[in-house]
Amino acid sequence: MSHISIAIDGPAAAGKSTIAKRVAKKLEYLYIDTGAMYRAVTLYVLEHGDDIIKDIGSHIHITFGINDEVYLNDKDVSAEIRSPEVTNNVSRVAAIGEVRTYLVDMQREISKTASVVMDGRDIGTTVLPDAEVKIFMQASPKVRAERRLLEETARGNDIDLETLTAEIIRRDEIDSTREISPLVQADDAVLLDTSHLSIEEAEAEIIQLVEDKLEVQ
Ligand code: DC
Repeated sequence: MSHISIAIDGPAAAGKSTIAKRVAKKLEYLYIDTGAMYRAVTLYVLEHGDDIIKDIGSHIHITFGINDEVYLNDKDVSAEIRSPEVTNNVSRVAAIGEVRTYLVDMQREISKTASVVMDGRDIGTTVLPDAEVKIFMQASPKVRAERRLLEETARGNDIDLETLTAEIIRRDEIDSTREISPLVQADDAVLLDTSHLSIEEAEAEIIQLVEDKLEVQ
């Protein structure tokens, strides 16, 4: 049987990675966090300057560990890529054409090697337009900021709800209005609003969609 792809797109903190990880585990598919790849590139660019972007492939090597750790040139950067500095710069770096071409190629190659659950902003529209199941995950800005606050507090970052709300809105604005593959719902994606869903409920909805789709194939 050929490989199956599940694309999960949506704005920041809609619950994509938490739910995508669980769905991947349940289906025994590979989980690919494409936001982490853009974050790893951003970390490298912040350390080495924008000049490396024109020859990005010779500078950057990104891999994932078995527990979804992110390695940048063989160094575990899973914590560093979540720093406020990376978060505040990632939308700018992710809007650069060379960066997108490089990462989209890599994401497509991975999807050829295994069944995947891939989350991001442009998976259903650009990276895997033929994905068997496409989800567009949404949640209200208030719910998303509250979720991010819990995550940041757990990481020991001292940040308030107002700052986080502003950061999420700013990032969504840049991600949705950029020229190259902006964040938009694919025509054939199913909209899943997680504002009032538990993690288990959202996971169950996606598993059901996958089962329905695979049954009719
Ligand atoms: O999912 P995240 O918050 O870790 O993503 C970080 C940034 O990366 C996000 O603001 C936009 C960008 N991104 C993107 O442009 N395309 C993707 N497929 C995934 C993320």
